Amino acid sequence: MNEQLKHRLIRTAFEAREFSYSPYSHFMVGAALLAKNGTVYTGCNIENAGYTPSNCAERTAVFKAVSEGVREFSAIAIVGGKKGETDFQVTAPCGVCRQVLYEFCGPDFPVLLARTEDDYLETTLGQLLPLGFGPNDLA
Ligand code: THU
Repeated sequence: MNEQLKHRLIRTAFEAREFSYSPYSHFMVGAALLAKNGTVYTGCNIENAGYTPSNCAERTAVFKAVSEGVREFSAIAIVGGKKGETDFQVTAPCGVCRQVLYEFCGPDFPVLLARTEDDYLETTLGQLLPLGFGPNDLA
């Protein structure tokens, strides 16, 4: 994956973050999930007055893609930070989102955790979820 594409994915995650519905935590998250077919699926966190039904940005992106018949992915970029703050720290996906990603993406799947378009930590799903339980375990 070339540098330009990574930058574009991060930029798209920042754009998706603007749609965050987070009136309770005020923590805005955006994700951009690149499918193998070249389409980028965006997601933001969507909170709920009942708290429990809240959905993370990463899962929003995955569910959008899968619900449209797309299940193969090349990378994801994630950005998060408190509303109104501009000094972003790295936001790593929660455990539930790691598991949801693991259903469709292998351990080598690249995960870009960005502070800015140029400043990001590149890791893999396998590093974030070692010894993950996935579809192969039920095969
Ligand atoms: N959140 C995400 O959307 N993705 C993450 O990677 C971490 C947390 C959301 C969930 C909730 O709406 C808010 O951030 C605070 O936890």
